[in-house]
Amino acid sequence: MFFKIIYIFVILILTKSSLQQTRRLGKFREIFAWKQLTYNINGNILLQDRFGDIEDNRKKRETGKIVFENDKSESGDRDWNEPPQNATNNTSTTDPSSEVGSFFIQYNNVPMGVERFGERLFITVPRRRYGIPSTLNYIDLKDSKSRSPALRPYPDLWQARSLTSVYRTRADKCGRLWMVDTGLLEIPDNPRQLQTPAIVVFDLKNDKQILRYPFKSSDIPAANTPTGLASITVDIDEDCSDAYAYVVDLTTFGIIVYSLKHNDSWRHTHAYLHFNPTAANLNIAGESFQWSDGVFSITLTEPQADGCRTAYFHPLISTEEFSVSTCVLKNRAIRSNRNYFSLYSYVGKRGEGSQSTMHEYHQKSGTIFFAEIGRDAVSCWNSGKMLNPSNIAMLAQDRQRMSYPSDLHVTDDEVWVMANTLPRFGYSRLDTNEFNFYIYSGNVNELIAGTVCSAPRTYLEFKKNN
Ligand SMILES: *[C@@H]1O[C@H](CO)[C@@H](O)[C@H](O)[C@H]1NC(C)=O
Ligand SMILES: *[C@@H]1O[C@H](CO)[C@@H](O)[C@H](O)[C@H]1NC(C)=O
Ligand SMILES: *[C@@H]1O[C@H](CO)[C@@H](O)[C@H](O)[C@H]1NC(C)=O
Ligand SMILES: *[C@@H]1O[C@H](CO)[C@@H](O)[C@H](O)[C@H]1NC(C)=O
Repeated sequence: MFFKIIYIFVILILTKSSLQQTRRLGKFREIFAWKQLTYNINGNILLQDRFGDIEDNRKKRETGKIVFENDKSESGDRDWNEPPQNATNNTSTTDPSSEVGSFFIQYNNVPMGVERFGERLFITVPRRRYGIPSTLNYIDLKDSKSRSPALRPYPDLWQARSLTSVYRTRADKCGRLWMVDTGLLEIPDNPRQLQTPAIVVFDLKNDKQILRYPFKSSDIPAANTPTGLASITVDIDEDCSDAYAYVVDLTTFGIIVYSLKHNDSWRHTHAYLHFNPTAANLNIAGESFQWSDGVFSITLTEPQADGCRTAYFHPLISTEEFSVSTCVLKNRAIRSNRNYFSLYSYVGKRGEGSQSTMHEYHQKSGTIFFAEIGRDAVSCWNSGKMLNPSNIAMLAQDRQRMSYPSDLHVTDDEVWVMANTLPRFGYSRLDTNEFNFYIYSGNVNELIAGTVCSAPRTYLEFKKNN
């Protein structure tokens, strides 16, 4: 009897752990999923909203006040996470006007970016509402056995306080983490530019911020430009001190180039960076709407014969792919060239519904992976082949579990994807009893095996000629 009970117990445990291991979507593995985000701040787990001036909460918050030095508008010197004088005392209210200054409003925390570096998974939460404790966070992959681990502010809440809002990060091969801090508290109807948008870089070896480069006014043509600084791509050959960063501007349609060596930036514009109006109607997560986002993602190949890489890019509102040489992007004077417009190329059509946030090139296979919001999917294309719909393979597709894939990144031979159901958050209401946010990972070779993405053109030509 005793052993029988033990036996059943062991079976139950095995069943539970094997269930955890087998959550899959296509050839992707689900790594984490959340109904709502929680935070681990110096061992204090934030599980519910923290609104007000209850003494207890104040004590817990003391280690991590988020103070914006140049936030002198409206509220004077008040720390922006301090509650207003007459704020209510409890967590029952959901009136947005009383959310001002709140430290943590769980529902408002929607993750956007994901990136693995070593044993850490970096997760960004842009400040598009009140109540986001930290915009840059991480999960330690070594000790996160839960399906829904708490996020930890990076490097800690005290230092993370200097960041206003970050959409996506990118690590480089020199052990640095790059991002754009938009400087914007992007509250609907009440946006506030708290600091100049800037490129920020952390050294991942010692977790120190090593650069904050505020963009020049000539980089930021309009007041709403910071809303669209959604992604950054880093370009390095051998010399870590000679890095370039390419930042997309999807709102006012440009690419901002930063040279680390010259500590200077400039801006390129081109018609291909604009959205395509015939791709503007979307239906995602049960919501129908029209968007007008331009250039969203840039990904780089290995260096070509001329020493420069091909930068593939696409607007979010588009089903087409374009390219330009990094020789063009790195050359600030080239804009005055008479033939500047002809230096950008049209690559091809990806197919109906293929509107994509991020994409990334995997060097060894020559394959580009796309996070497709229009089809709730992740797809691939082998860049050695013509780009047309029949050369695109769908690797995972699900209306619920791959709703709005908001970030996609290739680290080593792994593809990492975040899906966050964003349009339902924006236009309706997330069901907090259901899983809303997912992180997936897949091995490149397993993902593309047996698909149209797996055979490079050189191989096909080799076969044809032999
Ligand atoms: C809170 O105080 C401000 C000014 O001190 C006032 O304008 C506002 O109406 C007050 N709100 C509530 C809910 O009492
Ligand atoms: C907040 O709660 C305290 C008791 O915990 C109470 O004395 C105080 O009146 C409350 N303040 C407001 C604004 O509701
Ligand atoms: C929360 O505060 C509001 C207004 O101060 C009050 O009407 C409500 O009953 C309170 N709820 C709880 C659970 O204390
Ligand atoms: C780079 O430029 C920015 C602003 O243009 C300046 O604040 C910063 O000190 C410069 N950094 C270095 C290392 O020269």
